[in-house]
Amino acid sequence: MASVHQHLRLGVNIDHVATVRNARGGSHPDPVRAALLAAKAGADGITAHLREDRRHIVDADIERLMATIALPLNFEMAATDEMVALALRHRPHAACLVPERREERTTEGGLDVVGGQGDLGPKIARLRDAGIRVSLFIAPDKAQLDMARHLGAPVVELHTGPYCHAVAGAERQHETTRLADAATHGHGLGLEIHAGHGLDFETVGAVAALPEMAELNIGHFLVGEAIFVGLDAAIRRMRAAMDTARGARA
Ligand code: PXP
Repeated sequence: MASVHQHLRLGVNIDHVATVRNARGGSHPDPVRAALLAAKAGADGITAHLREDRRHIVDADIERLMATIALPLNFEMAATDEMVALALRHRPHAACLVPERREERTTEGGLDVVGGQGDLGPKIARLRDAGIRVSLFIAPDKAQLDMARHLGAPVVELHTGPYCHAVAGAERQHETTRLADAATHGHGLGLEIHAGHGLDFETVGAVAALPEMAELNIGHFLVGEAIFVGLDAAIRRMRAAMDTARGARA
């Protein structure tokens, strides 16, 4: 069984630095510069999602990230042949498989590994064989966790979107319990547990406090907050919020 994690890693997702850059089609602001800054501010990893439509991160960003950053890169990708080939070429530290639909504004649901894609297992195996740590972005649901384990993924990332969107109170509590139960169940299966999507200074605490949690991936809020306080300060405050929640639990 995987051990319960003391240090909770923070992966900073830099996609939306590229969103702002692409709004004008130039080279500023540069997501690679953001990644270097995130490292100085205490990030443990960098996450970037190369979407099929290249709406934010583009292929050249992945090349530059791989060549430039010292932190591990978590390459978010759809489970397509094109993306598997790119992952095998770049060999990032990790690959997080996410569902992707062209019309969505962001990744809306988890990957349906139970209902799903028959060739997910072979894709996971190809990435694993290349030394890439594979995670599956799934809903906090026991059946999804069981299937993730069955398919041979060492890591799952629990989708925190419904928790973050839930109204504070009973609804939020229900979603918190779902995440807690999923983290416990997944950890019991030997899976490493990550979480992400929609987290901010307010919502991060309850997720960070889950003892089985090993990594949180956070992007949109940090890049938005950076407009007001700068990326360095936003990341440091998130790191502190995670540490406080972790400490309160200890
Ligand atoms: N984890 C996964 C798998 C995601 O798809 C996203 C969104 O790209 C995130 C984490 C980060 O979510 P947010 O940008 O809302 O913090």
